[in-house]
Amino acid sequence: MEKLPTWLEINLDALESNIKLLRNWIDPEVKILHTVKADAYGHGAVQVAQAAEKWVDMFGVATVDEALELQASGIRTPILVLSPILEKEIPRIVNAGFAVTLSSSSFARRLSRCASERSSCIDFHVEVDTGMGRTGMLPDEAKEVIEEAASLPGIHFSGLYTHFPVSDTDPTFSVEQVERFHAFIDDLKARGVDIPILHSANSGAIPAIPESHMQMVRPGLLLYGYFPSEWKTPVSILPIMSWYSRLVQIRRIPAGNTISYGRTYTTQRDTLMGIVPVGYGHGYPFRLSNTGEMIIHGKRVPIIGRVTMDMTMVDLTDLMEKPDEGDEVVLIGKQGAASISLHEVAGWANTIPYEILCGISKRVPRTYFKHGKVETYKSLLGVLPNYLIA
Ligand SMILES: Cc1ncc(COP(=O)(O)O)c(C=O)c1O
Repeated sequence: MEKLPTWLEINLDALESNIKLLRNWIDPEVKILHTVKADAYGHGAVQVAQAAEKWVDMFGVATVDEALELQASGIRTPILVLSPILEKEIPRIVNAGFAVTLSSSSFARRLSRCASERSSCIDFHVEVDTGMGRTGMLPDEAKEVIEEAASLPGIHFSGLYTHFPVSDTDPTFSVEQVERFHAFIDDLKARGVDIPILHSANSGAIPAIPESHMQMVRPGLLLYGYFPSEWKTPVSILPIMSWYSRLVQIRRIPAGNTISYGRTYTTQRDTLMGIVPVGYGHGYPFRLSNTGEMIIHGKRVPIIGRVTMDMTMVDLTDLMEKPDEGDEVVLIGKQGAASISLHEVAGWANTIPYEILCGISKRVPRTYFKHGKVETYKSLLGVLPNYLIA
């Protein structure tokens, strides 16, 4: 990528390998819902879904627009909208035929009316809150809503799920949630309700809590190559994304000068300073000011001064070989023997890996690699053929 000041490399072979590994961990009849919301955690939902479609059974998104984007790109695998949506959005769901998560009786009646008017049948899932404390319904309310909705025309009860808040850190609580979920299901069965596909496992639960797999698992982060807690990431899972840049300017700054906004760093020696054309406007966290590191010539170099909107400064003084403008910089990924993981960057920024991934802005072009070659290139200019950047 010699012509780009910064870019992401997304390795679609690694994605495929992660999905196949997951397939080996779970029973063959367990389905996979691949969570591709938030633009596939910043990786590019269309490109990721197109590459994954052959291996997974369903895609999970958060909004109707996200589902429509996938459909418009030719994705034909069923799509479930996981987050609650406004009742006003129901016609868009019905026209497109997506599955939806239903969270109230009034929503169920409106969905049923709209689907019946159009002579279609819409699949709905229900989320039971067994301890997540976010969306869904507590068991008593869920029971009533399901009993009513299951008898309405034009809609079909096709999934029942729950979600874990601490599957990576507290398996005991998660197992308790699984037990609450089963108690709820037993109650529904006793009331004569036909039980649909059951699902609960997110990335934290898949390796840690086998009883959470049920009939479908719902991984996001794991397929992008990470376990939510770094120390537990199974070695065979590969991060699919790396973030690169290039030095755009190199300057000599005498001792005693301050660097960047806020004057938070003062050079203690004659300093060789590199300018990396990436800042918080690209989603590179401001919190990395005077804290984070990058890799140049296979060595880690420290960030000096504040990260700015478009640029970040690094101290190149200790590099053995003289750096040149245009030299490659690694922000997340490997170069020679050195590497910086997503979890490390998230730790420096005092946040979670999910936020770093989702925050990488459209400004950073995405290059998609398949069989070691760039397959697609996506930038602010749209999706372009490879020859324009090669
Ligand atoms: C309902 C639901 N299921 C599954 C996932 C996937 O989670 P993870 O990326 O931790 O696997 C999410 C993500 O937040 C979610 O909200």
